Amino acid sequence: MSRATSNFECQSCGYAAPRWLGRCPECNEWNSMVEGKIPGAASRSRRPLGPSPRAELLGEIPAESAPRILTANPEFDRALGGGLVSGSLVLLGGEPGVGKSTILLQIAHNLQQQGRKVLYVSGEESSLQIKMRADRLGHSDSRIYLLPESNLERIQEVVDELEPTDLIVDSVQTTFSETLDSVPGSISQVRHVAGHFLNLAKSRGVPVFLVGHVTKDGSIAGPKALEHVVDAVLYFEGERHHNHRIVRAVKNRFGAANEIGVFEMTPRGLQPVRNPSDLFLRERQTASPGSAVVCALEGTRPMLVEVQALVGATQYGTARRTCSGLDYNRVSVLVAMLQKRLEIPIMGCDIYVSAAGGLEIDEPGADLAVFAAILSSFRNRAIDPYTVLLGELGLSGEVRPVPQAHPRLREAAAMGFKRCVLPAGNLPLVTPVDRLETTPIRNVQELSQLLFD
Ligand code: TYD
Ligand code: MG
Repeated sequence: MSRATSNFECQSCGYAAPRWLGRCPECNEWNSMVEGKIPGAASRSRRPLGPSPRAELLGEIPAESAPRILTANPEFDRALGGGLVSGSLVLLGGEPGVGKSTILLQIAHNLQQQGRKVLYVSGEESSLQIKMRADRLGHSDSRIYLLPESNLERIQEVVDELEPTDLIVDSVQTTFSETLDSVPGSISQVRHVAGHFLNLAKSRGVPVFLVGHVTKDGSIAGPKALEHVVDAVLYFEGERHHNHRIVRAVKNRFGAANEIGVFEMTPRGLQPVRNPSDLFLRERQTASPGSAVVCALEGTRPMLVEVQALVGATQYGTARRTCSGLDYNRVSVLVAMLQKRLEIPIMGCDIYVSAAGGLEIDEPGADLAVFAAILSSFRNRAIDPYTVLLGELGLSGEVRPVPQAHPRLREAAAMGFKRCVLPAGNLPLVTPVDRLETTPIRNVQELSQLLFD
């Protein structure tokens, strides 16, 4: 809706309408529409003067791929799709305490070592607190410029004066513009702040990182309020009780979405993990009932993960089921298939399933391993510890092909596995991998015979 014809604006989100509305259609706030423009709205709607825009022919645009700035952190570069792009706005989201400020301070240090001028703006911590973190990371004499400030206009003044080559803003929720009435962290403020840094990034070619806290429902400051504005959205995943952290690109205008970087939180910051399979299989006990290994695909990266299951007779009336790192509904379907397709009386049993190491697996290709782990625990018979399982299961018990089988097989062979049980449908598509035997199966009956008979 054009602002010129809009006389009413929502105080909460800035939505403009030509007439008064009881409830804002954008943010659903009651009685938030006020007459007249909210302060700052006029300046936001003003267009910069300049040469008239001109449409260009696609074929005449020089084929120049976006140059990358390497952050000297292989896992972070990987999540970014091969390094930072000049003038890009990157949102780094995650729960409090997961390590957002830590990784960005490490990245800032790496960038300044390449002679870049990095400005780290923090509205959350004092310079002293950041200095203490830097000491811990061993970067105490780093030439990073620190600015403890949350006022957007003052941050802009410093940016104009310092002219940094890279900018980090920690966090978007604490930064506020004095041209808006709403409180810091409100949707209108967060949008305004993100829009401001988007302009800054594009007009100066400076890469900007915005830190965003994720609320309980998992979204950054209101449902997807920022994701469409920024060029890339990286989410920091990780559990309090585990040391590994995953940075996942859920959106990337310059690279593959869903690409991940794996880190381990150590007393000296987040260290890149070059071999995640090793990390997730580290505490595995060989040959124990209820354990199966899958080679899951995260982005373009194959990773070996152990699935563990524990099946026991129900003690109190209704059977208990818990899943961690796996989808509860998916596990329920697999349990129903065990009962129906293999005629195993498992419905009345307590079943606990988890992906070891605190990883989340949401890939259907892990079905076969979950199924096998539950079956192995029920039968109290271990699966050969050098076997890896791949395959999606259909409701009638058929084993369906998985995408990208070949890189998964290579990863399994590299980690010392000797056999891969995989869908028969995948076999024509994979080239043999050294030291890895492939055993194709068509359905769950064949799986059961292969593993336990
Ligand atoms: P932090 O980066 O402050 O989290 P966020 O910015 O996402 O809120 O990380 C805080 C946690 O990381 C804190 O619990 C301490 C831990 N930590 C380490 O284990 N090792 C370290 O070297 C550092 C700097 C932090
Ligand atoms: Mg922080």
